[in-house]
Amino acid sequence: MAAWVWLAALLYGGQAAVLPPPWADIRRNPCAAHPRGWLMLYWPSDGKCYTIYTKGHPCPDTQELSPGKWGGRTIAECKCPPGTAQLPHTTTCHKLFEKGPCRTGEYFAPVEESFNKRGERQGMCVRPQQCADETLLYWPADGRCYYRLSQGPCYSGDVLDIGDDGLANCTCATDGPNHWPTDGGCYAHYTRGPCEKGKLFLPGPKCGCETHLPHYNNATGGCYELDTVGPCPKGHIFSISEVTPLGSHAECRCKSFHARAADGACYRLYTRGPCGQDEMISRGGRCTKVPCARGRLYVPERRRCYRPGTAEPCPLGEVVAFDFEARPALDGLSHNGVCACGNGPCAKKDIESCISHRGKAVYGGACHILHTQGPCPDGAWLVREASGNVKCQCRPGLLPPDCKDITVISINS
Ligand SMILES: *[C@@H]1O[C@H](CO)[C@@H](O)[C@H](O)[C@H]1NC(C)=O
Ligand SMILES: *[C@@H]1O[C@H](CO)[C@@H](O)[C@H](O)[C@H]1NC(C)=O
Repeated sequence: MAAWVWLAALLYGGQAAVLPPPWADIRRNPCAAHPRGWLMLYWPSDGKCYTIYTKGHPCPDTQELSPGKWGGRTIAECKCPPGTAQLPHTTTCHKLFEKGPCRTGEYFAPVEESFNKRGERQGMCVRPQQCADETLLYWPADGRCYYRLSQGPCYSGDVLDIGDDGLANCTCATDGPNHWPTDGGCYAHYTRGPCEKGKLFLPGPKCGCETHLPHYNNATGGCYELDTVGPCPKGHIFSISEVTPLGSHAECRCKSFHARAADGACYRLYTRGPCGQDEMISRGGRCTKVPCARGRLYVPERRRCYRPGTAEPCPLGEVVAFDFEARPALDGLSHNGVCACGNGPCAKKDIESCISHRGKAVYGGACHILHTQGPCPDGAWLVREASGNVKCQCRPGLLPPDCKDITVISINS
């Protein structure tokens, strides 16, 4: 059983986005008077203060001291750190999405419901899903399939392969075909990998560029990874445009939902791009006057402007929302309005499958992987609370002000 302790006389107001956190208040936390006491929680059974989110004593070895909420009060509790969970009736935390305490071929998956009870993070052993074919490997953490020996979800220098336990593993075998002795890393073939611009990491292994490759770009004489910007101007993607018996080759094209403007670059539709103030890029790459009043979004299918949250132009259960695929830092402000799930029932298939996937959550009509940064600020990741709210929370080991404090961003009903 997890150790359960009351923090004396702590009444929790329920505000989620406050800085410093609620336990920093001396009326709520007797430790708040200590130097750096706002990072401490009171443990009644020995009357001492302990630094929050440290593993071990007074908690079991793999658990950490966390602020919990129970019956309107804040309590100090021992919990498995995010990214780990325990089997029912145990206090040992195991990493999620790895073999952990499971049989060979199974992985340890989070049990969603258990987040409701006592804040305990529980896990269970499950079999990986089947991918379309043998060249693909299932990665439990995001529920997707990736090509074997591609970088997939791995950090640069590792490739995805089958581990000894039969599960996909980010690894780098020094005797494998993807190993580059010069820097000790492993790279997928036909990606840039450790090579200079214009060269690709080829079987051998070697860094090179050959004119017969689809990756070859005649204009620059270089080879570039497919479906990246490659040798192209801004807003383009270098991808296969032509498949012929003599071989395929890649070309620079505008990314989808982009249009080429007079300056040769491609810009996301309905952003300002190179246009004047109060103008936006329209289809065909022309600059047109923004047709909407402030605070309204342009829905191209209707050629009209709507207030965000309006149901009218959208399918049942959906409302007009900001274009979540536009990245303001890169694309600039987007006037594009999209239909996204509102609070009602929503018919979209991908959203349905997102809701039913325990490792994912819907935010703003898009599907995000829990326990990754997703739409969160640096230092935070996306988690689901007991209430079903999806929010950005500081990653383990980071505390405000090193990361932005908890911001509730969406209710996932
Ligand atoms: C996964 O890869 C790492 C790094 O190469 C290796 O140390 C580990 O043993 C592998 N795990 C399994 C289960 O094969
Ligand atoms: C490749 O470039 C050369 C010179 O830059 C040019 O003569 C040739 O026609 C180009 N080939 C193709 C297929 O575009």
